[in-house]
Parts: sequence; C-alpha cells; structure tokens
Amino acid sequence: MTTTTTTGRAPAPRDTGGAVLEASGVTMRFGGLTAVRDVDLTVRAGEIVGLIGPNGAGKTTFFNCLTGLYIPTEGTVRYRGTVLPHRSHLVTQAGIARTFQNIRLFANMTVLENVLVGRHTRTSEGLFSALLRGPRFRKAERDSEDRAMELLDFTGLTDKRDHLARNLPYGEQRKLEIARALASEPGLLLLDEPTAGMTAVETTATRELVLAIREQGTAVLVIEHDMRFIFNLCDRVAVLVQGQKLIEGSPETVQMDDRVIAAYLGTPFEGEPGEAEAAEVRAAEAHSTGTDADQPEEGN
Ligand SMILES: Nc1ncnc2c1ncn2[C@@H]1O[C@H](COP(=O)(O)OP(=O)(O)OP(=O)(O)O)[C@@H](O)[C@H]1O
Ligand SMILES: [Mg+2]
Repeated sequence: MTTTTTTGRAPAPRDTGGAVLEASGVTMRFGGLTAVRDVDLTVRAGEIVGLIGPNGAGKTTFFNCLTGLYIPTEGTVRYRGTVLPHRSHLVTQAGIARTFQNIRLFANMTVLENVLVGRHTRTSEGLFSALLRGPRFRKAERDSEDRAMELLDFTGLTDKRDHLARNLPYGEQRKLEIARALASEPGLLLLDEPTAGMTAVETTATRELVLAIREQGTAVLVIEHDMRFIFNLCDRVAVLVQGQKLIEGSPETVQMDDRVIAAYLGTPFEGEPGEAEAAEVRAAEAHSTGTDADQPEEGN
C-alpha cells in the first residue's frame, strides 16, 4: 500500500495562508482543444467561491482536474498545501468532495444507503473486521449510520431515508448528492450546478443549505448559471471564458465588469425580469384576453 499521506498532514506542508485549495496554472487539452488554459484559483477556509462562464467555458473540466478525474496537461492542485494525487478516491480522502452536473446516484439503493456509500472513505474498518462482524465493526457501522442520519436531517431528507434514490424528485436527488458528498467529511465541497432544474423555492433552500455547510466549516466552490444565486451567495466569483479566467473578484466587481457583461451576462439578472420572461408574460396576457392577442406587441 502507498504510504503517501493525503490528509493534508504531509510532512511540513507549506504555509497556505488559510488556503484550502490552490490551483495554479491548470491547463487541460483534449487533442487540439484547450478546454482550460492556465487557470489559477484559490479557495480559503470559510469561503464560498463561485465559478461562472458560458456553456463550454471549461468549468466542469476544471472541476475534473481538481478532483483527479482528469490529469491536467499542466499545472498543480494543492489541498491545504499538499499536491493532490491524480486519483479521485485519494482526492476525496484528502478532503475534497463534489457533486456532478449530471446527477450520479446509486439509483436502486435507498437514500440512506447512498449516504453510507459516501462515508466509506472515512471508515477504517478492514475486510476481516467486516467479515467477522465483530463488536468494533458493529460500532463503526452504528456510528456511520448515525452520521448519515444527521446528514439526512441537515439536508431535509430524513423522511425519505428508505426511498429508492431513483424515486426522488429531481430537486431531492440533488440534495441527496450533497448529503452523500458531505458524508466524506470534506474540508472543501465542489458543487457543479446544484440548482439546475430546481424550482425557485428549492433554489432558495439550496442557498440556505450552502450557507449552513460553510457555517459547519466546509469551504465551497460552486459552478452555477443562475446569476442571482451566485451573486447573492458567494464571497468571490471567478469568470471562465473559453477556458481562461477573465476576471475574479467580489460579486459587485464582477457584475460591473464590462468584459463580463459583454462576454457573458449580456442581459440584466437582477431586479427587472429579462426579455425572455417579459415576452412570456406578454404572451400569457395576450392569450388570456382573447382578441388582444392580435394586437402588435409593444417594444421591450
Ligand atoms: N472528455 C472530453 N474530451 C474532449 N473534449 C471535452 C471533454 N470534456 C469536455 N470537453 C470539451 O471541453 C470544453 C469545455 O467543456 P465543459 O464541460 O468543461 O464546459 P462547462 O463550462 O462545464 O459547460 P456547461 O456550462 O455547458 O456545463 C467543451 O468544448 C467540451 O466539449
Ligand atoms: Mg459543466
């Protein structure tokens, strides 16, 4: 077995100045395509950092480089000062957990079982102990189940503990992914579009959940297309465009940046509804008033 320690307690880790994650010069090429180009990003303890950018900007690829799913063509990723190995289970063991843009649950396992699977990197019971099912194993099993139940309570899924994951509504599947990720007791949680497909109420609940996760001492790096969600939640936001980091700063700074508006936002995201929403409302009104539907639309 390897003797490399992946817990962030390697001999004399350098002083990180509170950094949990330090990605430096991360580049990922697929043949001729450079999906991520020379990206630096730091997440400090206690922070919630947002990562935004248009479709295909390289956000998920960057997450894959951070979590050992991809070996970056160039660059290094450190967790609490220690360079991470390019193996996803070792990255989880080190302290980084993630959820996936396309939900990855064990569909035919129960909600509780899915969370218990997430705990296996934190249980030290060996094969013999498991086979013999001795008192130590049973105690570890009980502790794991207690912690899993705590996490179901934390994410609001207690009532669903015995449901099969595939029978949960979409929003609850996303919550379960978060509960499972938290089961590995991470110091950093990466969320890839946690509110995709959620209702407005579920999105608000997810915001509260992320804030509570931070309160419990886990830093968060979150990818999301919902700008209201990002700018109302994050301490800092980084913008990727065509694989490169365009800008990074406070939500206020990023929202005001002309390059971001030109390259990405384009439309207002706060206060007034966007043109698409306004058009939808006009169409609905026209429909409900019958003959008015024939009237020409007003501009904007
Ligand atoms: N395994 C792969 N092999 C080849 N190309 C890939 C691979 N994974 C991603 N890409 C390409 O890399 C680019 C970045 O994709 P990525 O999925 O990281 O974007 P994204 O910012 O997450 O987009 P979205 O917001 O749509 O999820 C895209 O051009 C994509 O087609
Ligand atoms: Mg993506």
